[in-house]
Amino acid sequence: EEHAFQKLQKYQEIIANLPKDESIDSEWNLHLYQGFWYFSTTLENVFYLQENFNADPTDILICSPPKSGTTWLKSLSFAIMTRNRFDESSNPLFKAVSHECIPHLESDFASGSFSRDQELKLLGTHLPLNALPKSVFIENCKIVYICRDPKDLVVSMFHFAKKFPWPIFSFERTVERFCEGRSYYGPYWDHVLEYWKMSQEKPENVMFLKYEDMKENTLFYIKKLAEFLGEPFSQEEEMEGVPEKIMNMCSFENLSNLEVNKTGIHREGSAVEIGNNAFFRKGEVGDWKNHFTQKMKEKIDQTTQDKLHGSGFTF
Ligand code: A3P
Repeated sequence: EEHAFQKLQKYQEIIANLPKDESIDSEWNLHLYQGFWYFSTTLENVFYLQENFNADPTDILICSPPKSGTTWLKSLSFAIMTRNRFDESSNPLFKAVSHECIPHLESDFASGSFSRDQELKLLGTHLPLNALPKSVFIENCKIVYICRDPKDLVVSMFHFAKKFPWPIFSFERTVERFCEGRSYYGPYWDHVLEYWKMSQEKPENVMFLKYEDMKENTLFYIKKLAEFLGEPFSQEEEMEGVPEKIMNMCSFENLSNLEVNKTGIHREGSAVEIGNNAFFRKGEVGDWKNHFTQKMKEKIDQTTQDKLHGSGFTF
């Protein structure tokens, strides 16, 4: 206990010395650590994780910036990996949002509510590549990453933020701040580029997905995902339509209409308690058109162009 407390104090001292976002005056201030912005509570967990988490070589990380399609990717990965453990009606995804089926490293590990499922090796995280615990690289863990058009992502983030006791900015200001990199786990483009580069260097280790591609060609990516996760569909399963069943089970339509996702509460009683329904808003590509003025669009497109310049990557 005392040891844990001293550690916490040590972390708080580090955090107090980091650059912070002066425009926010609350406990939800953002702190800049190794090029990325975090809430202080997240950073405490990150430091704890970096010191104490030991990855298994068979662990597979589902990595994503917030609001990029995490809930969907976790649902698909979980459904793929557990397809022989449950029948069509008993899958835990019908009774819990996917964030409760797959632990989230920087919240669950540090809070002690982390139990490793020896059969299911999936772990979720929003951490940038540079903040992942070193053992992930030492053990050569596989990583699946998803990202999304920054315009749709910031729209999603704007709506999501309203559900928390976080500082609220107008949409216009949210976009400006996002372009400055001031969003949790931002700058968004840096987050994406780090993983993208690693996926280029080590394609056998990192599967890099885009939300838009997944929406357009869901079945194709479900099959690719199953292969990457080491659980490819057999010919027999393909003939039985198992990939289609997983696609339908994890569709926005199906998941968002489940009772648990309409009325259930995630992290109930904690400071970040939130209704499961907050993870299901529209689930569409291009909703940014309903939110952006021409000026805002030019600003974010210019930022994207500047950030991606010379990288070879495009959204
Ligand atoms: P919108 O706000 O644009 O609707 P995350 O899971 O990373 O928090 O991302 C949330 C975004 O993914 C939200 O986008 C949400 O609606 C969308 N989403 C959630 N479940 C989905 C699903 N099964 N299929 C497609 N999109 C989904």
